[in-house]
Parts: sequence; structure tokens; C-alpha cells
Amino acid sequence: MQDVTVVDHPLVQHKLTLMREKNTSTASFRQLLREIALLLTYEVTRDLQLTNTRIETPLAPMDSPILEGKKPVFASILRAGNGLLEGMLDLVPSARVAHVGIYRDPETLEPIEYYFKAPDDLADRLVIVVDPMLATANSASAAIEKLKERGARDIRFVCLLAAPEGIERFQRAQPGIPIYTGAIDEYLNDHGYIVPGLGDAGDRLYGTK
Ligand code: PRP
Ligand code: URA
Repeated sequence: MQDVTVVDHPLVQHKLTLMREKNTSTASFRQLLREIALLLTYEVTRDLQLTNTRIETPLAPMDSPILEGKKPVFASILRAGNGLLEGMLDLVPSARVAHVGIYRDPETLEPIEYYFKAPDDLADRLVIVVDPMLATANSASAAIEKLKERGARDIRFVCLLAAPEGIERFQRAQPGIPIYTGAIDEYLNDHGYIVPGLGDAGDRLYGTK
């Protein structure tokens, strides 16, 4: 599938299995998502540009690589995006953060936006949008539209699980934006849930059901 990277690292697959299991506790679910976020971030940042800087080690001067350009922005789709965000910030602590508050209406599955806060200079930064679930893709697409309105141009999307229907709809709505996911599941059910999936990511992350 073009523009879709499945991060099939054994540790991602192992941890994802533990997350899917319905009896996994809230604390474990949260910890596992944070750990998987490190591995997804490793993959989504793999091609970041480097530049050399002059430093001195205790033994000798050298030209050594550092990341080029402005720090990336991690744009978390609330609530569940924050579960991934925590792990991503563990790996890239200097990243900037955008918060996009969106939930989907349980009947219509349409995205309802309730909050937006992002750095002013999105146009100059790589923007990595994060949400564990890509189901209908309505939430991801609405978040990306909003970020584009505010100037974002260089955008990637990271999730833990995607439905094939969601990938197709995402690519029609947001052509050219690469997707990084831990797995592609079988299908979306009539209520817009990913099957076999892991249930409601926000509820499992925060223990609200
Ligand atoms: C979940 C999930 C995504 C969205 C995915 O959020 O975290 O944001 O559903 O579904 P979609 O691709 O069909 O839009 P939810 O609406 O449950 O909100 P919450 O994170 O605040 O619980
Ligand atoms: N949102 C979730 O949290 N889980 C799904 O399976 C679909 C949307």
C-alpha cells in the first residue's frame, strides 16, 4: 500500500497483543501505549535531515551530526492521542506540541471539534499528527484540515491501529500524507469500531468505562 508503513517490529506486535487483550488493566494499557510510541516515533523520524556541528569530545574536536531545522510538532488528537504523545515526548523531549480536541459523534461518527492550540509557525515545521485509532478517518482528516488551515504543509500521521476502510478514506481526503501504523486490522463494524481492534482507546487509556 502506497504511503502506508506498517511498523511490524516484534516489540510493537508483542505489546499490541497485550493491549488488545480485554482484561489488560488501565495502567498496563497506558504504559504499553507509551512504550509502543517510542518505536513508532523511531520509524516516523527515520529520514529526518541531519547537519554537522563542531564539538569537542574529551579527546578531540569533531564534526558531529545533529537534527537540522526547527523542532518537529507533535499534534495530538484528544483524548487518546495523548497516550501516544507521552511516549513520543520521551524520545523527542524538545518537540513542540499541538492539541486538537475532537471526538466523534457516536451516532453519526462525524467529528466534533472542541479545542485547538498549536504553535504559530506550523508552516516551518514537520507536523506529526498522532491518534491511536484510524477508524472512519473522520477525526484524523478533520484534525489535518485544521492544521493545514493554520499553515501546516509537511504532515505525517501516526496511529497504532488502522482499519482498511479508514486508510482508503484518509488517502482520498488527504492524498500524499504518509501513514505509520502498528497494524492494519480486518474491518470496521456497523458502529465504526475497528475489528478485532482493542475497543475504545480513550476509555481504555483513562478508565472511563
Ligand atoms: C477515538 C480515537 C480517534 C477516533 C477514531 O476517539 O481516539 O480520535 O475515535 O475514529 P474515526 O477514525 O472514526 O474518527 P473518540 O471519538 O472516542 O474520542 P476520545 O479520544 O475523546 O475518547
Ligand atoms: N475509536 C476507538 O477508540 N476505537 C475504535 O475501534 C474506533 C474508533
